Amino acid sequence: MSRRWNNPLRDARDKRLPRIAGPSSLVIFGVTGDLSRKKLMPAIYDLANRGLLPAGFSLIGFARREWEHQDFGQVVHDAVAEHARTPFRESVWQRLAEGIRFVQGSFDDDDAFDQLAQTVRDLSDERGTGGNTAFYLSIPPWAFPVVTKQLARCGLAEADAETWRRVVIEKPFGHDLESARELNAIVNDVFPEESVFRIDHYLGKETVQNILALRFANQMFEPIWNANYVDHVQITMAEDIGLGGRAGYYDGIGAARDVIQNHLLQLLALTAMEEPVSFQPRALRAEKVKVLAATKAVEPFEETTARGQYGGGWQGGTKVPGLLQEEGFAKDSTTETYAAVTLEVQNRRWAGVPFYVRTGKRLGRRVTEIAIVFKRAPHLPFDSTSTEELGENALVIRVQPDEGITMRFGSKVPGTTMEVRDVTMDFGYGHSFTETSPEAYERLILDVLLGEPSLFPVNEEVELSWEILDPVLEHWAKHGAPEVYQPGTWGPPSAEELLGRSGRHWRRP
Ligand code: BG6
Repeated sequence: MSRRWNNPLRDARDKRLPRIAGPSSLVIFGVTGDLSRKKLMPAIYDLANRGLLPAGFSLIGFARREWEHQDFGQVVHDAVAEHARTPFRESVWQRLAEGIRFVQGSFDDDDAFDQLAQTVRDLSDERGTGGNTAFYLSIPPWAFPVVTKQLARCGLAEADAETWRRVVIEKPFGHDLESARELNAIVNDVFPEESVFRIDHYLGKETVQNILALRFANQMFEPIWNANYVDHVQITMAEDIGLGGRAGYYDGIGAARDVIQNHLLQLLALTAMEEPVSFQPRALRAEKVKVLAATKAVEPFEETTARGQYGGGWQGGTKVPGLLQEEGFAKDSTTETYAAVTLEVQNRRWAGVPFYVRTGKRLGRRVTEIAIVFKRAPHLPFDSTSTEELGENALVIRVQPDEGITMRFGSKVPGTTMEVRDVTMDFGYGHSFTETSPEAYERLILDVLLGEPSLFPVNEEVELSWEILDPVLEHWAKHGAPEVYQPGTWGPPSAEELLGRSGRHWRRP
């Protein structure tokens, strides 16, 4: 059999050809929000600038503001000028601006939705969008039922042989398993599952997609990627920013629901899953679902989890407020801003290997990484003093910033004695490639327009992730307030104890 047919990267290689979206338009609900301004509008411009949008591409904003088309155009313009990744080019902007429309109304306003339906029809005639439309719900989940019902009522949810209709939803996908099921039912009531695109923007990051290339395009890692060689895995998503301005979304939600349930469990799934039979969406999802179904939070939770809330203090020479002093948070809020959980993947490959997952705000620095920490060599034929500075071998996938991969291993210190010390070997995207990585939202919005679902978690993945996390959340809910930690540190003392109990320690990235 030819080598070509055996190559699991065959599909991915085809995907490297520029993929340009076909005739289409995008409707954004929630255009006045931060996500829209900082991520979505700039990503659309960046796609246009890279020539990846069709000539007649149209963007429709829907909101209560009393704006004319040109007012909305100005909002998009300012967002692009401030946040786009690629340089501002007047000609690209002008072409994009021609397709910008605004529909004014509230979610329960039938007339406004009829007007939206009319705008979609007009754009099909005027700009050749073919009626193909993606609806981006950048709105709180309580608004999903009313918006999806409105879309159904005015015929906007219906696809036919020539026209596609898709809905894009942002997390939070519920706040526990039960609410996630309800939410999925509401969305699936109107849009079939294959038309639902759930955004987990971590999956749009180049470094996250590279986990699959690292594991399955190479021969040297996979043989040791299992419980025989791996001591434990640490997945860290640390941020140095606080939660000022985000109380409305974050209070009562907390770090575990905000990012462990989605981003970090997706990172775990890609790190721990088996090789998919191909990179076709169905094959990829099947493996992710399998590994998530095998993943459980390790008990007893008093010892295997930690949660904290940042107090006020100094961070990098600046005085910062504690969470309870941030505007909008309840003065007795027990919302955690730091969460660490021990997980185990209960299958043959990973049995007994802890996956420590942590995240927090106002920590020492912004860094996301996956560290595979290997067992020590079974025998060291050296004097013990010669290996005092030898740690465990580790392979670290640096998701951001400073994207790349580091390998840590022992090396002889130059000199007459056989002294061994840890050294690192680095691969950095910035050194190896001249292209800069697109923003996650560029990739994901393009995939929505192309109808390419690989990077979007399905219903089942979302529900399995809640199944993993729910027992921990229930335990925390019964146990009062989280521990306070100082800003600029690496979280509460209980987080150190969590690993310390087994003689391990967190990395200080
Ligand atoms: C979001 C979370 O999903 O991811 C935020 O809601 C977090 O709390 C953000 O700050 C981090 O994204 P990134 O891409 O900057 O790591």
